[in-house]
Amino acid sequence: MNLENVKSEFPLLSNSDIVYLDSGATTQKPQMVIDAVADFYKLNNANPHRGAYTLSTTVTELYEGTREKIAQFLNARYAKEIIFSKNATESLNLFAYSYGLENLKQGDEIVLSIMEHHSNIVPWQMIAKKTGAILKYMYINENFEIPDEEIENKITSKTKVVGITHVSNALGTINNVEKIIEVAHKNKAVVIVDASQSISHMKVDVQKLDCDFLAFSGHKIYAPLGIGVLYGKKELLEKMTPFLMGGDMIEYVYENKTTFAELPNKFEAGTQNAEGVIGLGAAIDFINQIGYDKIASIEKEVVDYAREKLSTLDYLTLYATPNKEHHQSVLSFNINGIHPHDVASILDSEKICVRSGNHCAQPLMRFLKIDSTCRASFSIYNTREDVDKLVVGIQKAYNMFKKYMK
Ligand code: ALA
Repeated sequence: MNLENVKSEFPLLSNSDIVYLDSGATTQKPQMVIDAVADFYKLNNANPHRGAYTLSTTVTELYEGTREKIAQFLNARYAKEIIFSKNATESLNLFAYSYGLENLKQGDEIVLSIMEHHSNIVPWQMIAKKTGAILKYMYINENFEIPDEEIENKITSKTKVVGITHVSNALGTINNVEKIIEVAHKNKAVVIVDASQSISHMKVDVQKLDCDFLAFSGHKIYAPLGIGVLYGKKELLEKMTPFLMGGDMIEYVYENKTTFAELPNKFEAGTQNAEGVIGLGAAIDFINQIGYDKIASIEKEVVDYAREKLSTLDYLTLYATPNKEHHQSVLSFNINGIHPHDVASILDSEKICVRSGNHCAQPLMRFLKIDSTCRASFSIYNTREDVDKLVVGIQKAYNMFKKYMK
């Protein structure tokens, strides 16, 4: 591993001159992940859990071995607390439907933050409609952070579920999930943490956090698209009804009834994304080889530099907390008077990839009284040179449009 030039581990980046600043949407893939997926098809392809022949049992071992690896990565107590899904959205839906439908009733409260991704809002709206539960939101202050009083006021004895993103995909705010979990547990509420935007940047320890459930997508931590994880405490998962029904999640099927398999199989219906699981295992090896301390120091240096550079542009609004310790990896901004899609197109003409739009966070945008932002999101392979190019691109966009500004 070349820690002096991590970009060289990523073929797409080392073979082109693009500046990739959209890792919040999906990260690029290192060679070792690409190799693991290619090797799976070259050497091991079969359906896990289905065959008694050696090729299939080898895949089963690789598949279950990765579950163990993820359990260690998250510091879960048991491998069976790790459920494979398609992505964080499916993990969040699994929890909302499976737990929410059976445990919520009229008048119960579901507390979310206003900065949740739609995938941690829309399923709860459906559950609230079906059960009569009430949705409540924790709002942010002028620093784009949820104040402690907001946590204490919104989470009460009526709260049954709390859904909170660890890091906002639109603001980069690191939420005080420890405090939210503590207040929720005092009120006997169950907490699901959306770790999609945090887990490639910081150690996530589910026992230390004491979260009840946690979701993330593999593709945001260097793994292939189409693989996600739901962690859940064993005692809670065991009581939940499966979300999807079909092959391999059953014990016995009769004409009119079915008994379900034990954890984790009862939540993994149908042929699973074995290539994705194996790619995710390689992505975790990649992270472990670098180490979170090194990842954090490389990324912090670049993100701090970007914050500093963007802050000097007086025509630009930055949507980030001034408290650097509470911020990570994502910088949302607007050039005053220019639509973010126009800015993103001009940046694209300079081979700079940023996301523009509402970032699947329309309630947050509405709360901030804006429609959309441009978002530069950073990862291990970004450099100060990337930031310099971004600033030149932003300046170009401003120069092109300033004559139209009032
Ligand atoms: N949720 C991803 C993002 O924030 C797609 O861009």
